[in-house]
Amino acid sequence: MKAEARAPQAYTTVYGEPPAGVWAAPGRVNLIGEHTDYNDGFVLPFALPHRTAVAASRHDDPSWIVYSEQTGETVRFTADDRITGWASYVAGVVWALRAAGYEIPPARLAVASDVPLGAGLSSSAAIECAVLAALADLGGLSVPVADRPALAQRAENEYVGMPCGIMDQSAATLSRAGHALFLDCRTLAVEHIPFDPAAAGLTVLVIDTRAPHRLVSGEYAARRAACERAAATLGLAALRDLAVADLPAALRRLPDPDRRRVRHVVTENQRVLDTVRLLRDGRPREIGPLLTASHESLRDDFEVTVPELDVAVEAALRAGALGARMTGGGFGGCVLALIEAPSAGLVTDAVTAAFAALGFAKPVAFPATPGPGAGRLHTG
Ligand code: GLA
Repeated sequence: MKAEARAPQAYTTVYGEPPAGVWAAPGRVNLIGEHTDYNDGFVLPFALPHRTAVAASRHDDPSWIVYSEQTGETVRFTADDRITGWASYVAGVVWALRAAGYEIPPARLAVASDVPLGAGLSSSAAIECAVLAALADLGGLSVPVADRPALAQRAENEYVGMPCGIMDQSAATLSRAGHALFLDCRTLAVEHIPFDPAAAGLTVLVIDTRAPHRLVSGEYAARRAACERAAATLGLAALRDLAVADLPAALRRLPDPDRRRVRHVVTENQRVLDTVRLLRDGRPREIGPLLTASHESLRDDFEVTVPELDVAVEAALRAGALGARMTGGGFGGCVLALIEAPSAGLVTDAVTAAFAALGFAKPVAFPATPGPGAGRLHTG
C-alpha cells in the first residue's frame, strides 16, 4: 500500500475518525546542478514517484498533533514550543507560515512516507511541502505556490537548523510529471523542461549506495561558508556572478581549497545550462558526459563524495552507462546513471558486484521517472 493510502488509514486509527483530506509531496533526484543553489546558481532536479503523504483535519484544541507512521510516535506542540527530532519539520512549517503572517489553524496530522529516509532524496523537503500544502488548504489560506519553496526552506534553515538552499523544496512543490525543473535560484524563475527518458529508450537509474551519511550537516555548512567567503574576496554578490571565462583570473586570487570550490560551482552552473540546451534540442543521450564531469568535479574540487559514490559511478560507467554522478548533498546517499533502457540489469549487477567485492552494503537501484509536485489528493 502506498503512503497516500497509509496516511489516512493511520489517521483514522490514531484519531478515531477519517481525515478531512490527504496531501502529498515527492522526494527528488537532481539531474545536474549540485551545490549551486545556495550560490544563486542553476539546478535541474525532478520529482520522484516516491511521496510523503499527510492526512489532516482541523481541530479545536490550540495545538498541533502529529503522528508518524515511521516512528509510531505522536507529538503535540503549541505555537510557543521549540521542538526537535522528526516533528521539527512539521513544527518548522507552522512556525515559518506564522512568521510570514499566516493564521494557521490548529490541526491533527498523520504522516506516512515512501521517500527513503537519509538517502539524499529529500525526505525532509517532502514532509515540509506536504504539511505546508495541507495547512494552507485546511486554513483556506491563499499561500502563492511560488512562495511555498522559500517558506519551507525557511522552516528548515531557521527552525530545523540545516542551512540548505532552495532546490529540494522547489522540486517538491513545483515539479511537473514528464519534466525536469530548471530553476534559477537567484530570480526563482522556473522552466519545465520536457524530460521523458523512457520515450527516448533511456532510463535514469537511481542507485542508493546506503552508505551511512557522514558529517553531512557540518561539511555542508563548511562548503557553503567557503563559497560565501570566496564570493566576498572576489567582490561578488554570489559565485553565480563569476563567468567561466573569468575563472582563471579569479582562481589566482584565491587560496586552496576555496579556489577548487569556486571552480566546481562555476563549471557546474555551465553544465546545467549545457544540459538544458541539449534536452531542449531533444538530445538526451548527449547529456551523459556532462553528468560524469559533474561527478568528477564534486569528487575532486568540491570534495563531497565518499568511496561508495565513486565506486558506484565507476562501475556504472564501466557497465556502459552514458553518464553517472552522485546526486544531492553528498557524503553518502545516491548516484544516478543515465543508461540505455535494456542495460538496467547489467548496470545494477555491476554496481552490486563492485560493492560486494569491497565489502560495502548492498545497494538498492530503481528507475526514476519524473513525477508531479505537491498537492491535494482527490479521494472519493
Ligand atoms: C542538499 C540541499 C540542497 C542542495 C544540495 C546540493 O540537498 O538541501 O539545497 O544544496 O544539497 O546541491
